[in-house]
Amino acid sequence: MMKPVPFTASLFLLVILVACGKDAPPSGRQQTAMPAASAGPEPGDILAALPQDAQPYGLDVYTAQCANCHGALGQGDAENPALKGMTRAVMYQKLLDDRAGKGRGAHPAVMVKAVAGLSEAELAAASVYAGE
Ligand code: HEC
Repeated sequence: MMKPVPFTASLFLLVILVACGKDAPPSGRQQTAMPAASAGPEPGDILAALPQDAQPYGLDVYTAQCANCHGALGQGDAENPALKGMTRAVMYQKLLDDRAGKGRGAHPAVMVKAVAGLSEAELAAASVYAGE
């Protein structure tokens, strides 16, 4: 076993901190953002807010920017994951994170580079097409 006592002690401290926080008066600090997995703008709304001729078409963006790696049907291959089971909003947030250099995964740099030059509207369009 590895050092069970300090770990338990830190858990205990955490519980105390959380418990105290409940009764504390509002500190004026901003509420932390919701995690990406459960919130985020709907990419369809982002597109709908644009003039029609400024709305990128998801299939075009996907074919030009994503299909090379993820496959025409998003099926992926040995090196590139299949795009399945991700809502449009979660995918859009993931692409924004990638573009901001906050990509996560085993090889985050690949996606960071893949979306580096894309606009928010293009990322939204790709998410509408490839998300669920
Ligand atoms: C150069 C190849 C390449 C291109 C181009 C590319 N991707 Fe990826 N993508 C990857 C790789 C590799 C990963 C896995 C990265 C990791 O695990 O760190 C990934 C991961 C993802 C994931 C996360 C999948 C998951 O289940 O977690 C999404 C979503 C995604 N890509 C969407 C897109 C979209 C949309 C585009 C086009 C705008 C795109 N990708 C372009 C290679 C690419």
